[in-house]
Amino acid sequence: MSSQCGSRSLSAAMSRDEVREIVTLFERHINRGQVRYLRAGHLDVMESQRHGVHFTDPISGRRLIDCFSSAGSFNVSRHNPLVVKALEEALETYDMGAFDRLSEAKILLAEKLLAMAPQGLRRIRFAAGGGDAVDCAIKMARGATGRSKILATVKAYHGHTGFALSANGKQHYRHYCEPLMPGFEFVPFNDLAAMSERADAGTAAIIIEPVQGEAGIFVGSDEYLKGLRRICDERGIVLIFDEIQTGFGRTGRLFACQHSGVSPDIMTVAKSMGGGIFPNAAVLFRDSGILTDFVENNPDFHVSFDGGSDLGCRVSLKVLEYIESMRLWENAEKMGSRLRGALNELREANPKIIKEVRGIGLMVGIEYIHEFMGPMMSDALARHGVFAAYSGNAPQVMRFMAPITISDSEMDALIDAVRGAIKDMKTLLPLALPAAKIPGVLKLLNNERFQTSLFGALRKIEDGAKAVGGMLGRK
Ligand SMILES: Cc1ncc(COP(=O)(O)O)c(C=O)c1O
Repeated sequence: MSSQCGSRSLSAAMSRDEVREIVTLFERHINRGQVRYLRAGHLDVMESQRHGVHFTDPISGRRLIDCFSSAGSFNVSRHNPLVVKALEEALETYDMGAFDRLSEAKILLAEKLLAMAPQGLRRIRFAAGGGDAVDCAIKMARGATGRSKILATVKAYHGHTGFALSANGKQHYRHYCEPLMPGFEFVPFNDLAAMSERADAGTAAIIIEPVQGEAGIFVGSDEYLKGLRRICDERGIVLIFDEIQTGFGRTGRLFACQHSGVSPDIMTVAKSMGGGIFPNAAVLFRDSGILTDFVENNPDFHVSFDGGSDLGCRVSLKVLEYIESMRLWENAEKMGSRLRGALNELREANPKIIKEVRGIGLMVGIEYIHEFMGPMMSDALARHGVFAAYSGNAPQVMRFMAPITISDSEMDALIDAVRGAIKDMKTLLPLALPAAKIPGVLKLLNNERFQTSLFGALRKIEDGAKAVGGMLGRK
């Protein structure tokens, strides 16, 4: 097949045939299963124009509010022109730079980031991405303490690199490549007593996300974070907070741990640090005792040729300046509170659909009553101009993480869309819910493979009907 993809401008509209070609090539060269999964939940849209909280679906020409934001990578909005300009300006002088060279760009960013960081974090290492930053943090904790045990939490998500994957608390990501790194143990999230029981003299680190994201938006309580700090101080354990998804204003503070006033010994950041324009990641840590000694004595304990590049640092610096000058965390707090209020009203009115609304700032999750409702809602929301992904391995949970630049009127539109989507769901539920009572049917509906096939088949029928409608319309 001769591809026309390479010559196309991203802002242009696409015909159905052009899109079909991209889908076919994506299936052939990248992943067929991924296409099937995306189609089932109406998540197989492409992104042409990206602007503010929206991107445009090139087929329908419709603008969609991006409530996924690549799991928290677009805090400062899609294709933010100030960040784009920072990259353009940096390109006039810089390339990525040699990874080990002294660099003004690195220093300027380090100073800014450390000035904004939770109290006590005074040193920095750059990393290539989130998983790489988590790897670096765990290596630092093991190297500095000379201990090996790492305590992570059930359902945690820390990425897909070696140590990070070993700290993921879901079998889903791990089972096909066991055995992973030894010495990792898992404790239920928000359960201080369980953590205290397992944290012993052989424990190097406790690693948590202050708000579990991928697990389905579970907020760590203040008591939990304070208790972890106490346990770590008493037992010489390194406390690591993974703020890769929660950082840079998302939760209503610059960093989620600042709600509780608890600072970790090491904090990992990535994603929105690059403004969705140029990747960058970092590991911030305390400038005292064993951590500094270890890093000073082993400067090459963790090396990245891509992290902390000169281009990346110029871009990240602009991102931080933008977040600070706009006080974006305050907007996240305000808009998140509006969204959670509206979703809670919907939950009260629709107890057969919404089980719980959770979250903090603009990191909000809805848990539906049944797993099959996640893909159904993704589909219904897409029709109302909102892109919201159900969680791949917890399909009953949907994350709402729009860029934290979202305005009042955009939030109105988002809330209206959710109301509309729930209304649409209600017209389908009189069919689905009685069927779900038949023995075995609910299990089937909740099965990911079955959902993918069922919703995929429905999409095919719908696409076929549209094509026929189009042909008839043309005649
Ligand atoms: C909390 C958390 N940690 C780590 C990662 C991994 O980051 P990356 O995909 O950049 O390796 C993610 C990505 O979703 C994340 O949300």
